Amino acid sequence: LENGVARTPPMGWNSWNTFGCNISESLIKQMADAIVNSGLRDLGYQYVVVDDCWMNSTRDSSGNLQANSSRFPSGMKALGDYLHGKGLKFGIYQAPLDKTCAQYFNSYPGATGAQGHETQDARQFAAWGVDYLKYDWCSPSGTIDDQVRTFAKMRDALAATGRPILYSINSNSVHDKTGPRRNWGDIANIWRTTEDITNKWDTGQTNGYPMGIQNIVNVTVPLASYAKPGQFNDPDMMEIGRGGMTDTEMRSHFALWAVMASPLIMGNDVRSMDTATQTILKNQNLIAINQDTLGLQATQISNDGTRRVLAKKLSNGDVAVALFNQSANTTTISTTTSAIGLSGSSFTLRDAWTNATTNTTGTITASVPAHATVVYRVSGGTSPTPEPTPTVTPTPTPTP
Ligand code: DGJ
Repeated sequence: LENGVARTPPMGWNSWNTFGCNISESLIKQMADAIVNSGLRDLGYQYVVVDDCWMNSTRDSSGNLQANSSRFPSGMKALGDYLHGKGLKFGIYQAPLDKTCAQYFNSYPGATGAQGHETQDARQFAAWGVDYLKYDWCSPSGTIDDQVRTFAKMRDALAATGRPILYSINSNSVHDKTGPRRNWGDIANIWRTTEDITNKWDTGQTNGYPMGIQNIVNVTVPLASYAKPGQFNDPDMMEIGRGGMTDTEMRSHFALWAVMASPLIMGNDVRSMDTATQTILKNQNLIAINQDTLGLQATQISNDGTRRVLAKKLSNGDVAVALFNQSANTTTISTTTSAIGLSGSSFTLRDAWTNATTNTTGTITASVPAHATVVYRVSGGTSPTPEPTPTVTPTPTPTP
């Protein structure tokens, strides 16, 4: 979506994966403080997104949404001001039909979805200083055409406010996984590709609830051509630092999200991160690959079911290559510089995890542990044909 935002994939934090409906303004403020104090904000994690359950169960007498008055007593404008004061951006949640997902599942009272209130809600969000809207289809009903019309309605309502608001949609909640059936780049900045993520490596799902990391990768890799500045596939908030996976699997999760040009939205409790979690989330090599200004998603070079190779072109001519071992045993994964689109005879590989560099004339190879992903930034290759050196004609000395 060409609305000026999400020129690279958004980075930030969302309340849902860890806290669900147990959110409050003090929790969100603590998280914002932790994002700043841990250095994550300065690495690019900017958006703080308040997910489902921030609302009162009814609108006010003029039809306006209201914050839950016991958990957000100062209101959403004040929360937005707090986040902006910390150099962060403010994200909020709403649903396009009559109910939010928590309301749909009866875990939260009310029916305050945006249906029939799109313009009013968009204006309300803009007035509160919202910078990011997550808009979550929570109904089994509706064809893909209904979804397109309904998601477009809010796109237009947001545009009409004049405030640049990143538009994040999910067509898959309680619905028949329409995400991967369409390139939503005309409607939204980011769109979920699957049902909800969980903190497991593999749940055996192809696209049903809940999705493991490997399962989401399988759905999202084939959608690479949809990604560009302003529009990215969204394989969901990260599960790094939430338990349920080995450190190797968490590193792989981050590496794969990085090369897939996916939004890097943390889903863990940022107030209490162990060293492994911090090291992963703060990997500047991978963040730079993810945030590269070309905005391309890695394309698949090969996949034999065990060894998967993905390559992401970068703006300075380098290519990031991911060697992903999908099996339960260590294996050697190899590709070549020509397979990833580089020509020439001398290249440098920088390992995104160790920073170690090696030279190669063309072979790219690594021994990759089970479920691990090795990422190399490959530079070198043929530089463009040099301009011919201009011949300088000496100025003739005038004859006296
Ligand atoms: C479903 C979404 O996929 C989740 O990320 C979260 O927003 C919940 N709905 C909230 O109810």
